[in-house]
Amino acid sequence: MERMQAQRELMKSAFGTFLAGASGQSQGKPEPPIEKACPPNAELVALPPPDMSVLTQPELRACMASRRSRRHWSHEFMSKQELSFLLWATQGVEEVVGDGYATMRTVPSGGARHAFETYLIVNRVDGLLPAVYRYRPIQHELLFLFGADTLLEHLNAAVFGQRFVNDASVVFIWTCVPYRGEWRYGPAAHKLMLIDAGHVCQNLYLACEAIGAGTCAVAAYDQDALDRLLQLDTHEEFSLYLAPVGKRPE
Ligand SMILES: Cc1cc2nc3c(=O)[nH]c(=O)nc-3n(C[C@H](O)[C@H](O)[C@H](O)COP(=O)(O)O)c2cc1C
Repeated sequence: MERMQAQRELMKSAFGTFLAGASGQSQGKPEPPIEKACPPNAELVALPPPDMSVLTQPELRACMASRRSRRHWSHEFMSKQELSFLLWATQGVEEVVGDGYATMRTVPSGGARHAFETYLIVNRVDGLLPAVYRYRPIQHELLFLFGADTLLEHLNAAVFGQRFVNDASVVFIWTCVPYRGEWRYGPAAHKLMLIDAGHVCQNLYLACEAIGAGTCAVAAYDQDALDRLLQLDTHEEFSLYLAPVGKRPE
């Protein structure tokens, strides 16, 4: 109960108010990169532009009304075109502003910090090997990270056996790079990042509805297991939220 109360107080506190002098920016420290670096000799996968040819339901109102958490998929492959649209809808960069200071995207973010990275566990997408990839939003391309026979087994354990996650065509996993927000807002950045995650996932829900696919937000996961699966340096980056995506059976 004490712990619960302490966490309530933390929530109310905006996780440390916007303290003057508490951020790297106010101390004159350099801005961290707005996107994770790409290692030399990386294997990159071009994505088609996110055009609207994939839409089966272009009416926003209809997408909002039909949106549900979906946990059953057909075993149809998704196309790269569809995946491109979903990545654009969730983290797509429309503009890089201020000489690389910030990105303006299809989702809002406190101070345009956009502290997330998107990892994909690909299972059934045309033209992509089942493996782990990272989205590069500025370039709108995928970086191949690694494949492993045990990927789905580890994923299943990390989400406490929620089977529909493994059955998906692709699983979106959003990680958080906290210093990207802290640099500007100090400890207040953490609450902003948690709020921002909701915008990203809601866009995924609506974009899925628009292309005859479905998704379900998942926050019930084992932090260490998922971070290990993605091979993250957890001092600088950790997983925050995930969402499996598949084509709807009907
Ligand atoms: C933050 C968040 C976490 C969630 N985590 C899970 C989860 O771990 N497993 C699951 O099956 N559903 C999860 N859901 C889906 C909810 O159960 C679902 O949104 C709720 O039952 C309402 O149904 P609807 O989305 O179809 O309106 C989560 C939803 C949200 C917003």
